[in-house]
Amino acid sequence: MIVIPLIERKRDGEALTTEEWVSLMSAYAAGDVPDYQMAALLMAVLLNGLDPHELAALTDGLWRSGRTLAFGDGTTPRVDKHSTGGVGDKTSLVLAPLVASMGAAVPMISGRALGHTGGTLDKLESIPGFRTDLSVAEMQAQVERIGVAMVGQTAELAPADRRLYALRDATATVEAIPLMAASIVSKKMAEDLAGLVVDVKRGSGAFLPELEETLELAQLLVRLGTDNGCPTVALLTAMDRPLGRACGNALEVEEAIAALRGEGPPDLMELVYREAAEMLTLVGLTEGIEIARADAERAVTSGRAAAKLQELLEAQGGNPNLVDDPAGLPQAPVSAAYEAPQEGWIEWVDPRTVGLAVVTLGGGRQHITDRVDPAVGVVVTAKPGNRVEAGQPLASVHARDEAGIAAGCAALAQAIRIGDEVPPGGGLPLISHRVTAGAVEILA
Ligand code: URA
Repeated sequence: MIVIPLIERKRDGEALTTEEWVSLMSAYAAGDVPDYQMAALLMAVLLNGLDPHELAALTDGLWRSGRTLAFGDGTTPRVDKHSTGGVGDKTSLVLAPLVASMGAAVPMISGRALGHTGGTLDKLESIPGFRTDLSVAEMQAQVERIGVAMVGQTAELAPADRRLYALRDATATVEAIPLMAASIVSKKMAEDLAGLVVDVKRGSGAFLPELEETLELAQLLVRLGTDNGCPTVALLTAMDRPLGRACGNALEVEEAIAALRGEGPPDLMELVYREAAEMLTLVGLTEGIEIARADAERAVTSGRAAAKLQELLEAQGGNPNLVDDPAGLPQAPVSAAYEAPQEGWIEWVDPRTVGLAVVTLGGGRQHITDRVDPAVGVVVTAKPGNRVEAGQPLASVHARDEAGIAAGCAALAQAIRIGDEVPPGGGLPLISHRVTAGAVEILA
């Protein structure tokens, strides 16, 4: 495929045709377009944007670069949620088994860590033996049998997005709003869904920190999903602090298991219950958000949700006993507490610095080819608004060696700001807006 004239046109602010976008994506997935040319095109898109036709065509091209699940009419409604990326965001690990335990089917395709944010796929791969590379046939059969599967993009499923995602990470083009929208919706189209909930992060740890741009992305995602026949709702949620406490792959799996037993941190539980309620309402499996929320809480307290995770682990090669004894997850060789250097009030826990600390410890990637260390990370118990005394433990660092402990503690000293004044409000509201096809509702 001759790509230079397409790059030139995009560079000069012109639009490419639907056929051009679709052929470009299938050629890229087939390895017929080199990364350096695609990188130039991505940067032109970041700078010049995409018109609505191009956005639809790119989404189509990404989705059609691979195969699609096809469940047929009359089967259990499929629903999924996707996040735009955060630090400590292990919600998907909790939601997929929870919602499946309540009668919906969740065929989830997830991505890897991107920049300072974690990726569900890397978290899943920290579970010994867990297979994320199911074929389309295996995934479909598993969803039909137990109601849930959690996989990554493969050569069959959204292969063009798999390559583009990694290339964007290495070329400072993650933040392009149309590229994020097309990446997310294309993966979800391959799942043959009846409903999608998107968690659009805002605040200093999000790829798009400002409210205005987060709302733009949320509205674009809702329109793109709905136009493709998949009713979509977006929630704007706080990423001006890490979500929950654990940040790092196996550490987050352990916290997700605790959440499925009802013992997760309050912010994580709140987000999980709201998103579960939105998912079930969207596909008509409940009478409304409040009833669905109460049902979700019951699914957790009754043990049904944790039992569904056991089924999922068993189906994909992991050890189901991990749900009762998470000590079987990879453990870092050394760990140490990070203590408050002074008394005062926690003003801010900077999620970006925490996320980058996990990357530095080896829990994320600095280069596409890096292997991720499943065991390392930090567990930050301090939250904005807490009163602390000097010497009080605020976090723990889990590392390969003592140098990692020192680096982790140094990063936490930067990330956790302690002041003399009580900070107002403790940060952004956890869930601030709800965006549907017709409206933007302010929730807090
Ligand atoms: N998640 C995705 O799947 N794609 C993006 O571009 C960002 C977050």
